[in-house]
Amino acid sequence: DNVNRHLSMAREWHPHDYVPWDEGRNFAELGGVDYDPEQSKLSEVAKAAMITNLLTEDNLPSYHREIAENFSQDGAWGTWVGRWTAEENRHGIVMRDYLVVTRGVDPVALEQARMIHMTNGFASPAGSQTGLLHSVAYVTFQELATRVSHRNTGKVCDDPIADRMLQRIAADENLHMMFYRNISAAALDIAPDQT
Ligand SMILES: [Fe+2]
Ligand SMILES: [Fe+2]
Repeated sequence: DNVNRHLSMAREWHPHDYVPWDEGRNFAELGGVDYDPEQSKLSEVAKAAMITNLLTEDNLPSYHREIAENFSQDGAWGTWVGRWTAEENRHGIVMRDYLVVTRGVDPVALEQARMIHMTNGFASPAGSQTGLLHSVAYVTFQELATRVSHRNTGKVCDDPIADRMLQRIAADENLHMMFYRNISAAALDIAPDQT
């Protein structure tokens, strides 16, 4: 029911529609100019928030592992894990395109941070294979947290294009939260003590 509900509510959108490509230009490797902090229109707070949120989206393989191991690849769960992973990947794609095209942050530092972050990966503090209910509880809060964080980052960027992009991402995160919230509610009905 919840996979079908999600698929009926999710709206198709395309990362390229949210990026101001005409602000872009080549970097030195292709005869242009490399990044200089002067080029960024983002405040220090906006930069920090963008980088943090993007690195979190980049860490998708770790999160995919967590839910693929603790949910299931079968039936509706398998459909959900694949669909959720594809939607989350879109968030990292559009945010990186925006930041590189607008020169919002240092692309070299961003790539170095991505390499470190993804190489280390994410491990649940409770350990791997913690089971369905622990993972569902975690992601219910985590999806809400990302919704709030993307929304607030959009405001602090002080750029209508960034705000529009991050509102679009936040709408996805809200649907993810609703999916997991419904599963959490069902778990409280079916197995209240365990939940
Ligand atoms: Fe996301
Ligand atoms: Fe999400």
